[in-house]
Amino acid sequence: MKHGNGIEIHFKRRHILINIFYKHIFRKDVNQNCLSKYLCKIYILIFTYDYKLLYKGFFLIYKYANKCILLIFMLRTSISKLYKSLESNIRVYNKLYNTTFTKGCGVYLYDINNKKYLDCLSMIGVNALGYNHNVYYSAIQSYMNDNAINQIIDMDSEIRTKFLKKFKDFVSINDPYFANNMRVIFTGPSGSDAIDCATKVAKSHTGKSNVLTFKNSYHGVTQYNLSLTCLENRSYSFSINDEGLKRLEFPDKYMQFDIIDELIKHIDKYDPACLIIECIQGEGGINILSNKLGQIQKILKEHNVLLIIDEIQTGIGRTGKCFAYQHYILEPDIICVSKAIGGGQPLALIAVHKNINDLESGQHLGTFRGNQLAFYTGYNCLDYIIKNNLCENAKFLGYYLVDKLNIICEDYNEIIREVRGIGLMIGIEVKCCKMTKILHTQLNEYGLFVGLSGPNKNIIRLLPPLIFSIENCDELLNKFENALKNVNELQILQDCI
Ligand SMILES: Cc1ncc(COP(=O)(O)O)c(C=O)c1O
Repeated sequence: MKHGNGIEIHFKRRHILINIFYKHIFRKDVNQNCLSKYLCKIYILIFTYDYKLLYKGFFLIYKYANKCILLIFMLRTSISKLYKSLESNIRVYNKLYNTTFTKGCGVYLYDINNKKYLDCLSMIGVNALGYNHNVYYSAIQSYMNDNAINQIIDMDSEIRTKFLKKFKDFVSINDPYFANNMRVIFTGPSGSDAIDCATKVAKSHTGKSNVLTFKNSYHGVTQYNLSLTCLENRSYSFSINDEGLKRLEFPDKYMQFDIIDELIKHIDKYDPACLIIECIQGEGGINILSNKLGQIQKILKEHNVLLIIDEIQTGIGRTGKCFAYQHYILEPDIICVSKAIGGGQPLALIAVHKNINDLESGQHLGTFRGNQLAFYTGYNCLDYIIKNNLCENAKFLGYYLVDKLNIICEDYNEIIREVRGIGLMIGIEVKCCKMTKILHTQLNEYGLFVGLSGPNKNIIRLLPPLIFSIENCDELLNKFENALKNVNELQILQDCI
């Protein structure tokens, strides 16, 4: 048998060895379809030509497996410590989840201790299709196999055009008028850059320079955008251009003022080039724009004020429609899109109504505005969202989650103030900050990966991947209820009030 099936055994053994090597070093399974497994195989083929020696080596590793694993673990831990010592303390999310994440699969994340987390944040909405979705694999693999040009600045390419057509199809689902009249500008790959470009277009078109924005909005943290970003604790200190910026109260269902009067007052006083809105404020605490805004469009048009809608977090189906503005009677002049649009790769763009004169050649630049891989993954992601009706999925699961969360939270109204959201963009407002921290720790214990938002960081923010299923929702609800129960039992509430 040894001789007859020698080659077969040889290959089987090699496969096992690759598996062991790969699992322990990279903590992945070779059967998983990912690019790095091929790199690993190539590495092994090149460096381990002498198989007998390799078998011997692995035999020894097997014999002393425990010690080896411990050694590898220590090595990895010290590497993660090294990273920590090399990185600045500016980071935010590592303080919420103080662990090293090693892999992602579907809607789950895994850390170095193999703890499994249900991802309810999708890296702030970027990973709409979860982790390592087949669509990404096939997109990346087939694209790279094809002698791809990975960056092309702003020159024409087939994939750029394919992406633009798909984007137009996507916007058309709810707003064929805008889709048929828009022009796209690819900006640098961050949301902040898209916002920056959008305000430039508005200023250039209207010949005016002032901007109206809303309190608790978030439009990025570059020094100009900080002036637009009105989260009290982040703004102001570094912003360079507060002059000409006016921050209005955000008109949500709690507004105690007439938004139309407010708007007319501010337009008369400041004569702005544009008004910039997030229909649902993400970072600001999942605050939902009131739908009593029928007349605002007319007033803006009469006063030559462009309407810029920031869809960076709300876009690409998250709220149950392609874009959040489509829930309202709003006709944007410019929409800003990023995060999920690149199918997990960095990409940002603005879509401008063609009646607006946009910028002249070269007035907005960015080295990475031709990220071909992002066009390709973005194209495939949009195609998947359209074909699998993920907007509807987000809408349906959004109702389901908000309903069930409200029922759960009824019993804990000393802890939770409100559950609110549209589609898969949901906020659970906790009554005090200290309690939020305790609840977050409990959620972490149960393996729920969530974010915090709001000026006081007392809103549990849920932005799960759009591929979430009803079973995933039930797992979320179950874990959330248990976490709340624990917080209640701990009776820390008394210290808090
Ligand atoms: C609504 C909104 N606008 C703008 C930005 C800024 O995007 P980026 O961080 O990619 O610069 C963000 C980022 O979270 C956002 O949520």
